[in-house]
Amino acid sequence: MMPREFPPMGQGAANLDEVYRRFQELQAWVGWTEASARRVAATATLLEPHLHAIVGEVHDEILRHPNARKVITGGQTQINSLIETLIQWLREVLGGCYDQEYVARRWRTGWRHVEIGLEQVYINATMSQLRLGLIWSRCIRPRHAVWGWA
Ligand code: HEM
Repeated sequence: MMPREFPPMGQGAANLDEVYRRFQELQAWVGWTEASARRVAATATLLEPHLHAIVGEVHDEILRHPNARKVITGGQTQINSLIETLIQWLREVLGGCYDQEYVARRWRTGWRHVEIGLEQVYINATMSQLRLGLIWSRCIRPRHAVWGWA
């Protein structure tokens, strides 16, 4: 049973119902519907072969930025584990189920980054990189190939 208030301690405590309502508000903002969820889920198999490369690029980028890199304290072992964690996170993004439990897991992940002192700007940059990675892997590259740009 998911606690209603989480994380359990400290200033990051938030009400899960409120967090979920905010999530739904943002879905409405971008015109998200059940059909959107189905369309995303339909891309999962197509995108799966690209996830390792996309996440690998993210981690290469992290290592180029000392202010981001400094929160990685466990060396290559931790990097390998973070790569797997992020791939799993992406699989859930593409999973088609965006219920309260999904949002709770996202919230906890976000909060974990706050706890380890990662500046939020690096999350934003990573989100952008992931989004582009997913789009490029299925849309732009094939089109470039068709148009003879690649
Ligand atoms: C879209 C951006 C990102 C996503 C979706 C993401 C996802 C995750 C997830 C799912 C976890 C596991 C959280 C947990 O155990 O509760 C995690 C942990 C972690 N992330 Fe990220 N991450 C992102 C960006 C970054 C960036 C830019 C860094 C910079 C170095 C980073 C460093 C870490 C570290 C060090 C941990 C391990 C914390 C621990 O030891 O518990 N993450 N991340």
